[in-house]
Amino acid sequence: MTMNAHEVPPAPIGLLAELTHRCPLGCPYCSNPVQLESRSDEIDTESWKRVFSEAAALGVLQVHLSGGEPLARRDLVELVEHCAKVGLYTNLITSGIGMSPTLVTRLADAGLDHVQLSIQDSTAASADKIAGYDGAFAKKREVARLVCDAGFALTINAVIHRANAGRAGNMVALAIELGARRVEIAHVQYYGWAVPNRAALMPTLVQAQAAIAAVEALKKQHAGEIVIDHVIPDYHARYPKACMGGWGKRTINITPQGRALPCHAAESIKSLEFWNVAQHSLADIWYQSPAFNAYRGTQWMNELCRTCERREIDHGGCRCQALALAGDAAATDPVCHKSPDHGKMQQIVLAEEAAHVEAYVYRRLKGGGGASSL
Ligand code: SF4
Ligand code: FES
Repeated sequence: MTMNAHEVPPAPIGLLAELTHRCPLGCPYCSNPVQLESRSDEIDTESWKRVFSEAAALGVLQVHLSGGEPLARRDLVELVEHCAKVGLYTNLITSGIGMSPTLVTRLADAGLDHVQLSIQDSTAASADKIAGYDGAFAKKREVARLVCDAGFALTINAVIHRANAGRAGNMVALAIELGARRVEIAHVQYYGWAVPNRAALMPTLVQAQAAIAAVEALKKQHAGEIVIDHVIPDYHARYPKACMGGWGKRTINITPQGRALPCHAAESIKSLEFWNVAQHSLADIWYQSPAFNAYRGTQWMNELCRTCERREIDHGGCRCQALALAGDAAATDPVCHKSPDHGKMQQIVLAEEAAHVEAYVYRRLKGGGGASSL
């Protein structure tokens, strides 16, 4: 279906609630913006509850409670309870730091449906180094056990990059050992903190191809035992991903301050105006706001994408990546081999390989992102 600017878009399916940007970990590929929002600017419990009620009324089915680290919000149990009351499926996306036996029980009693736990690598030394947090790996093992014992379905999220690209198989084995039913193996996508860390994170072409082949083989090997979702590395692909399943088509992201975004990196497009849930209803934001309408359908596309048979498949790729690499958010995503800017991708890969950078710029929130703030 080709939607023009005047057609009514379908209702959103999912809502990603970035409850806070506080987090004890410092992962160098965090998708949060480099300008993190502080605790004092976070919207309050009643505002989140209203957003969740409006989301349910709008047709949203799933809420992803995320951050930062959502366990840093003292009202998390109350928010889960409210989501369950209004009929939303709740998924907690967590580092595990801050979880306790009591909290797992309270979340289960509140009606939480699912837990996604991140791991940084399959060995403690490397995982703790990537997270920038001593003891994180051991804590995550303990949290996985608590989560499974409480009867939750567990998904493990693992991000692949230069430091761990050779251990994708070990991470799948670890996910099985931890009791997960699903593991998401995602190569780093270069947004947020991954941009200043790109030279330290980007695998070589050989590493990336080996990791992709390894994960595809693991999918066959472990079929029926665990579901493996695989997000391949953008910079080495021929076609772009259908970012967010299409702009303003499936999901809404809400930042800790209450700004509603079509994707987690949308604020990098400075020409867009983002409405806040404090001033607008979620329905108004979804149907009327300029930011959500900016790249809906196909009318905004350039000739190359508008006449392409894949325009309804990948929607021209990622708007944020088009801006970052081609300088125009409405350009064809340079990942596409047909893009006139595609050569830039190869140049970046070669330049990052040659840079030999190893040190990370850890994600930190000034004045309160550490474990003590939980
Ligand atoms: Fe997708 Fe545009 Fe490339 Fe076609 S030209 S494959 S729509 S990015
Ligand atoms: Fe913004 Fe892809 S991350 S459209």
